[in-house]
Amino acid sequence: MRYTIMTPEEAASLIQNGQQIAFSGFTPAGATKSIPVAIAAKAEAEHAAGREFKIKITTGASTGDSCDGVLARAKAVSHRYPYQTNADTRAGINAGDINYCDFHLSMMPQYMNYGFMGEYDWAIVEAADVSDDGEILLTTSVGTAPTGLKLAKKVLIELNEYHSKELRGFHDIYETANPPYRREIPIYSAGDRIGSEVVKIDPSKIAGIVLTNKADEVKPFKASDPITEKIGYNVAEFLAEEMKAGRIPQEFLPIQSGVGNIANAVLGSLGANPDIPDFCMYSEVLQDSVINLVESGRIKFASATSLTVTPEKIQEIYQNPKFFRDKIILRPQEISNSPEVARRIGVVSINTAIEVDLSGNVNSSHIMGKNIMNGIGGSGDFTRSAYLSIYTCPSVAKGGAISAIVPNVSHCDHTEHSVNIVATEYGVADLRGKTPLERAHILIENCAHPDYKELLKKFLATVPLGHTPQTLANAYAFHEAFLKFKDMHKAEF
Ligand code: COA
Repeated sequence: MRYTIMTPEEAASLIQNGQQIAFSGFTPAGATKSIPVAIAAKAEAEHAAGREFKIKITTGASTGDSCDGVLARAKAVSHRYPYQTNADTRAGINAGDINYCDFHLSMMPQYMNYGFMGEYDWAIVEAADVSDDGEILLTTSVGTAPTGLKLAKKVLIELNEYHSKELRGFHDIYETANPPYRREIPIYSAGDRIGSEVVKIDPSKIAGIVLTNKADEVKPFKASDPITEKIGYNVAEFLAEEMKAGRIPQEFLPIQSGVGNIANAVLGSLGANPDIPDFCMYSEVLQDSVINLVESGRIKFASATSLTVTPEKIQEIYQNPKFFRDKIILRPQEISNSPEVARRIGVVSINTAIEVDLSGNVNSSHIMGKNIMNGIGGSGDFTRSAYLSIYTCPSVAKGGAISAIVPNVSHCDHTEHSVNIVATEYGVADLRGKTPLERAHILIENCAHPDYKELLKKFLATVPLGHTPQTLANAYAFHEAFLKFKDMHKAEF
């Protein structure tokens, strides 16, 4: 091999204070796991010596603890884009130590390409293989890696032999041109391949290669509980009814499903529902539940940017790559989450809300209007362009002290204009074609927890005549009550 093999510490020694780095990783899948640990150790040593050391980080989305976690704990991060789920990073952001911007994930590569993010000093990327002429076989995610590899002045690679070289053929690397030269993305169904199997870069940019052997830090999901199962059941029943009513074609439509336990439960219910035909996914993340449904034949094809599966599942895939290779595609996030493609192929989007208000606005990202939870992620990419956009959430949080249905969301990620359906464990609110006041009544009747119905109706009774059921004086009465008394039941108007 023509490249310099180095230790993680030698790689970290090349990184300087203030530099901007594009790391690979979309969820812990495909994230670097050795160089960031060494950069964190370097940061701690620099801080102990009284010197500044912080870097700017762009990734595809979240990463694993060996990237986001270690760097946040070492106070080595000045800026973080475009999404995170790590407890220490979140704490750093909410304490004002880390400058965080959460972007629609499809926009991140564009913003990098347009020069909006400034210059990238380094791309640090996990690979399953690297050729002497600069062909890089990515591992379990694509994310922004092709863009980072293209734009960065220098490249460091973690060559991870845990990942099989049989991954060749899973990726479909395609980059759009910047306007005014951009053409349509030629994807007309979830399974269309339009790009190459590898990322190609100038090999002289590769400053070094670190050899690793580490599994992705993907944690298994909690076993589903009766509430998430009921939400999953409600969504699946709703979609089956939509099909019977002729509002979803008989071939069905590609599904986008968010991450987490509810998403897992929804997919499980879709797979188990005999009225729903075998279907495709045009999504962002593929979790274990998707692989199970691919194996059973219920999912015919799955397109995403990340294979976020547990070590047991990835080994199943590596043992049978031929079976999976023509059923799974990993694309750059600009393509997996493309609003253009989602609108064209008719994606049914299913994402999780933190809270929903009586007009149908959805908060996906902030707690009590102030603290970030994770970020908007890809939810907005799909919601705004979906054939049918669905939000799910349990009707209450924190043991019932918080209602997920509130008079006004404390932060708005998805407006009433983009949200079609809301589902909790109590039922489904179909907001299509309804006025804001009609939506308020349907959400209270079908989705709110019984303990909050009267309070929400009382709020509605305080609303003066107008188009939208809102009163500025009481809009945040539920949230104020939680902040004051730790209980939204104590809201007063
Ligand atoms: N007010 C305050 N806290 C709330 C809340 C509310 N209305 N609703 C939920 N929470 C808290 C929960 O109590 C829990 O807190 P904990 O971590 O202290 O236990 C936390 O938020 C996460 O809730 P949980 O019920 O475990 O849901 P989840 O893991 O499914 O995550 C989101 C829900 C909304 C945070 C998550 O789906 C997300 O980040 N979405 C945005 C990005 C996205 O949609 N990505 C997919 C697009 S492809």
